[in-house]
Amino acid sequence: EKGTYPHFMLKEIDEQPIVMRKIIKEYQDEHNELKLDANIRQAMKAADRIYIIAAGTSYHAGLVGKEFMEKLAKIPVEVHVASEFSYNMPLLSERPLFVFISQSGETADSRSVLVKIKEMGHPALTITNVPGSTLSREADYTLHLYAGPEIAVASTKAYTAQIAVLAILAVDTAKVKGLELDFDPMQELGIVANAMDVLTGQKEELEQLTRDYLATTRNAFFIGRSADYNVALEGALKLKEISYIQAEGFAGGELKHGTIALIEEGTPVIALATQANVNYSIRGNVQEVVARGANAMIISMKGLEQDDDAFVLPPVHELLTPLVSVVPLQLLAYYAALHRGCDVDKPRNLAKSVTVE
Ligand code: F6R
Repeated sequence: EKGTYPHFMLKEIDEQPIVMRKIIKEYQDEHNELKLDANIRQAMKAADRIYIIAAGTSYHAGLVGKEFMEKLAKIPVEVHVASEFSYNMPLLSERPLFVFISQSGETADSRSVLVKIKEMGHPALTITNVPGSTLSREADYTLHLYAGPEIAVASTKAYTAQIAVLAILAVDTAKVKGLELDFDPMQELGIVANAMDVLTGQKEELEQLTRDYLATTRNAFFIGRSADYNVALEGALKLKEISYIQAEGFAGGELKHGTIALIEEGTPVIALATQANVNYSIRGNVQEVVARGANAMIISMKGLEQDDDAFVLPPVHELLTPLVSVVPLQLLAYYAALHRGCDVDKPRNLAKSVTVE
């Protein structure tokens, strides 16, 4: 039930801090140690390479998960769009582990990959919000997202839950492998939950930014570098699927290799700046588009902000910034759809779970 909320999407955006706290609780034992199935630990330790398979928003969460797995657990990861992997399989490593990320656990494109890799004898782990789902039943192992039912077609709390669970899995794997880590995932996710509380309280500000940047536009660009690039892809998907504004997520440095040709007077460019090592260069990319007339909005993180930034996020650990930077992008998409009179929870042409290939 959506209760007092006008739309499920808004309710589900607001639930994100609660979901973070639920995940912290469910993945911790009574001694505050990470709690994960011993078989999953064994499978993660045995793998020489991880293949993440997903679609849409879950694919975008997989891109963030790759960074966790490589930086924290030191396992190489490939992230693949399920529908592509299925018919054009890359060369596999000797001991691959397949990780399926799926809110519904019913996505046919992902299932088709699961069937194929099971025939080949490879192990599979499904990360899903629906433990009894097809992808969960047919994989060897399951990790639960604990996000609660997601009703709006546009995925919000499942994306952040997927990222949180992937962070926990990466840290757990690092520990199992005996790696030294200077990163307490539960403490950092607690900080994220508090930051999300702040952000969901800033709706008026974000609604105003939507009016300033997205009211009448036909297209929009989201740019970022490094971790922000992954979130730029998700911000663009959210905007296009519910407001029907044509949106593209781009790596800040890649824009000038062609796509900058599309920037005209007033084109909105939403830039994320949450990463210290690329803060200077993403701001350079913003200047490049502003010089061509773009209406640029910088969303930065406290500590990296500059005077004219449109929106400043509360600070969180730099690996976990996608969990907070996505929230204003979800809300921008929500208000853009609302102001344009679109059906927020049930956008045209889309179904909540895509059960055909
Ligand atoms: C976007 C969205 C879709 C799904 C995709 C995968 O908001 O909801 O892109 O993320 O269809 O669905 P699941 O995660 O159920 O496999």
